[in-house]
Amino acid sequence: MGKERLYIHRGLATRIEQHPTPPHATLDDVKVLQLSEGDGSSFHLVLKPYRVIFGGVRTYSRDTGFDILRLANMPSERKVVLITGATGGIGAATAIAFARTGQYDLALHYNNASQEKRDALRSTIEASAPAFDPRTGTPIPSKPRLEFYQADMSDFASVRALHAAITQTYPHIDVLFNNAGSALGHQGVASLASVPIDVFEATWRVNTGSAILLTQLCLPAMEAQGWGRVVFDSSVAALTGGSVGPHYASSKSGLHGFVHWLAGNVAGKGVTVNAVAPALVTGTGMMGEEGGEVARRMAGRIPVGRTGRPEEIADTVLWMVNTAYVTNKIITVDGGLYPC
Ligand SMILES: NC(=O)c1ccc[n+]([C@@H]2O[C@H](COP(=O)([O-])OP(=O)(O)OC[C@H]3O[C@@H](n4cnc5c(N)ncnc54)[C@H](OP(=O)(O)O)[C@@H]3O)[C@@H](O)[C@H]2O)c1
Repeated sequence: MGKERLYIHRGLATRIEQHPTPPHATLDDVKVLQLSEGDGSSFHLVLKPYRVIFGGVRTYSRDTGFDILRLANMPSERKVVLITGATGGIGAATAIAFARTGQYDLALHYNNASQEKRDALRSTIEASAPAFDPRTGTPIPSKPRLEFYQADMSDFASVRALHAAITQTYPHIDVLFNNAGSALGHQGVASLASVPIDVFEATWRVNTGSAILLTQLCLPAMEAQGWGRVVFDSSVAALTGGSVGPHYASSKSGLHGFVHWLAGNVAGKGVTVNAVAPALVTGTGMMGEEGGEVARRMAGRIPVGRTGRPEEIADTVLWMVNTAYVTNKIITVDGGLYPC
């Protein structure tokens, strides 16, 4: 049986050569045989076969005196990202952006999207996955794992079932992008009286309650492994009131208080919590197509002179996930509409 070799680049465990590597071994299974300097920014740990995975609890190897705390905090295999509303404009762009890194398996949530739409998204994602790890230049032997899961976010039981189904397939969720959202058919609201209180409640449930519940369900595994990322898709409407309506604005601003509370609560546990707050992003079900009627009408109001693109939100989410020092933030991506 050949030796397995773990490459560590800039302190991150990145990949293991010479499989098979069972997916859920723990650090107790690892025997460090040799630690040697390698070329450039990498150095090599030669590991006794066969079982290696990080995310465990041991922080110190008596055999070598090598401190493996950082490894323990860094899963070495692909992380898993759960994106809710992955069939929408922003969700799909974010799924593609994560797939392009070569570092993620994807659990993609949808509600009413057709099989045809899901198949098309699957094909695009699979075509986007790189053949080589962009960080190490080493070949990536397999396509990212990608599964779709249906759930209606207006129903908390459905959200619980969603989490249960995903964790039967994936060991845990490392990154959660709470993106699904809706105005429940009430857009451009002209008076408070025109939004029944039931619509307020249903909107809060979809946009706020379900995102909080899913976070509650995903967080224990993130805390246990000492690494996790939670990002919410809020809206500039949470800061300004916006143009959709009071039910929508209030559902999004509710997320902000939650971000601030939770970010502080888990900051010392390797978990960051942030929100992106977009405005007027076309190429979405919510705002229509780029170059379409809504986009033309809105563009004049936006300082950069155009509506936003889903990829610009996706890049922001990826940046938040990659930057451990960014937490407790609401980042607006709005073409300069709002000054913060
Ligand atoms: N576009 C913008 O300008 C803008 C601005 C600020 C914030 N946002 C936020 O961005 C997020 C993504 O929206 P988008 O712009 O990409 O619009 P979109 O294309 O309409 O996508 C909405 C996504 O949410 C899912 N969804 C809607 N209602 C749901 C429900 N009851 N249960 C479960 N899933 C549900 C949809 O699933 P199915 O399609 O499968 O039914 C779809 O995947 C939302 O939270 C939205 O509030 C968008």
